[in-house]
Order: sequence, then C-alpha cells, then structure tokens
Amino acid sequence: MNISERIESLLQEIEDLHAQKAQEVEELRVRLLGKKGEITSLFDEFRNVPAEQKKAFGQKLNALKNAAAAKINELKEAMEEAATSAVSSDLTKPGDYRELGTRHPISITREEIIDIFKRLGYAIATGPEIEDDYHVFEALNFPPEHPARDMQDTFFVSDGANPVLLRTHTSSVQVRTMERSKPPIRVICPGRVFRNEAISARAHCIFHQVEGLYIDKNVSFADLKQSILLFVREMFGPDTQIRMRPSYFPFTEPSTEVDISCNICGGKGCNICKGTGWLEIMGAGMVDPNVLKASGIDPNEYSGFAFGMGIERIAMLKWQVRDLRLYFENDVRFLKEFETSI
Ligand code: DAH
Repeated sequence: MNISERIESLLQEIEDLHAQKAQEVEELRVRLLGKKGEITSLFDEFRNVPAEQKKAFGQKLNALKNAAAAKINELKEAMEEAATSAVSSDLTKPGDYRELGTRHPISITREEIIDIFKRLGYAIATGPEIEDDYHVFEALNFPPEHPARDMQDTFFVSDGANPVLLRTHTSSVQVRTMERSKPPIRVICPGRVFRNEAISARAHCIFHQVEGLYIDKNVSFADLKQSILLFVREMFGPDTQIRMRPSYFPFTEPSTEVDISCNICGGKGCNICKGTGWLEIMGAGMVDPNVLKASGIDPNEYSGFAFGMGIERIAMLKWQVRDLRLYFENDVRFLKEFETSI
C-alpha cells in the first residue's frame, strides 16, 4: 500500500471505530496518535514525498489526524457519560458526601438575639455604617469635648462642622429611628461598629452590637429591668440572675451596666468570672430627655429605655470563646465547632 492508500484505509477504519471501555479508547489513541502510532509514522514518511505532491498529501494527512483526534474524543465523552449515568441509576449506592457549611457564631448569636426580641414585639431597624457626628454623638447628648469623639477612638472620613465618620456604636440608629417614626417605638438595631483600637484578644477595630430602644407613654425602669431579665433567661438559661450597677452614658439617665450570674459556675466564682460570680453583658438606661427632644419627641409625654450589647461578647460568654480575633480569622476548625448550634 502506498501512503495515499494507507491514509484512505485509516480514514475508513477511524469512522468504524468503537470501544467498550476507557482503556480501549486509550489503546486506540496510542495505536494511532501515540509517539510510534500509525498516523505519527505517516508524518515521518511524509518527509520523503516529492516536493510537488507535498501540499496535497499534507492536507490529507492533517485531515486524517484531526479525524482521529475527534473520534477518540467522541469515544471518551461517550464513555464518561455512560459512567455517570450508570452511577445515578444504581439506587442502592450510598450517596455522595457533601460537606456542609456552618453559620458563623456571630450570625448565630445575632439571629438568636433578634428572635428573642421579636417575640417581645420589637421590630428591626438599621442605619448607615458611615455616619455623621450628629447621629453618633451630638444628638445622643455627647458634650463637644467628650473623649469618645477623640481621634483615638473614632475613624474619621472627613472633618468639618459635622464630620463624616464610621459609627462607633449602633446607638446612632436610635436617633435615625426617632427622627423617622412616632412613638410607640420598639426596635432593635443589629449592626457593625468601628473603633480605632489595637487588635488583641480583647479588642478589635470592627465588631457587632445590638441596640434596643423602647419609647411609649409611662415606660419605666421596671420595664427595662423586666425586659432584660427575660432576654438573659432566654439567652443563657432560666436560672440566670441579673445585677444592675449604676453607670454613666451621655444618652441615658439614669444609666446602668448589667451583669448576669456566671453561666459557668452558677455564681459561685470561677476563672471565667474572675471569682466574682458575675459577667458584664450590656449597658442600658432610661433615654435622656435631651435625646428625646433632639429627635422631636416630647419628653413630657413620652419616656423610654435603651440598651446596647456587643454580639461578640454575648457569643464569648455563651461558648467560652477566649480570643476575639478568632471571629475574624475564618479558620474552619473554629467555625466547625458551631456546626451543632445552628
Ligand atoms: N452605645 C454604648 C456603647 O457602645 C452601649 C449602650 C449603653 C447603648 C447604654 C445603650 C445604652 O443604648 O442605653 O458602649
């Protein structure tokens, strides 16, 4: 057979090729297109073809090579298809293992807090993370020289009479809510806050808070106390006790810091509560009349309470997380520990 005849016969052969197994396809590939394959050796012989015939032969050879490659591909694909449909039609085979993602402990905690307050009739309110001085400080009764406005704490975006900044607490959403709605107001405001702090096990420049605000006629400190008690018992268990210590915030009067009985030792004293039996969980108080007034609510007609807590802190107490940085590192070994908490 001369080259021309061999090309013709191989073309014919390729058309009729079939295979049962992946291995047979591979054998065909090696026989035709491998280093010592039949088509490859035709290319070697091509060198001896007289110059005037080179063009015609070259075209034929290339067409043969392409036809062989296409056929082998086709056989391979058919083989793969058969393999997958064979798997899915065997209903007795065990299913494929799918790794499940887990929700982040901060998300889990935030949803739980929201869920508890929703049952008490609170709606969710949100506000911008990039805020102005007025909503973060001034409308909340911060005096102009208050240290929280200091460059040390606040990330400023611009300066001027009412600088733009990253909110340092979610209390700004109180102001935005009071501006746009009339009492009765009952909202919780979950969100991210930013402070210019060095990152350590106990501090971070980004964290999450939930703010609460309740304004109506005749809202009293007793209402605040009872609402917080109910919340902590839902969150940390029915035997949890609370303790309120007098404190100071510019936007509440009176102000308090709330502790819960240590959920590890039950109040006896351990290394988590540093032997005191109590763990601090939030700030709270009666909304200062100046704050109501600034947002157009008459303090002679209405009163209210507010509270604010850090979500990281609540999650740390709930699961004994000892280092804040773990929440931001996205180490799957840490995240996996919350698989069963969803
Ligand atoms: N905004 C305070 C903070 O970031 C927390 C807070 C304290 C919020 C008392 C309140 C409150 O609503 O009444 O530290």
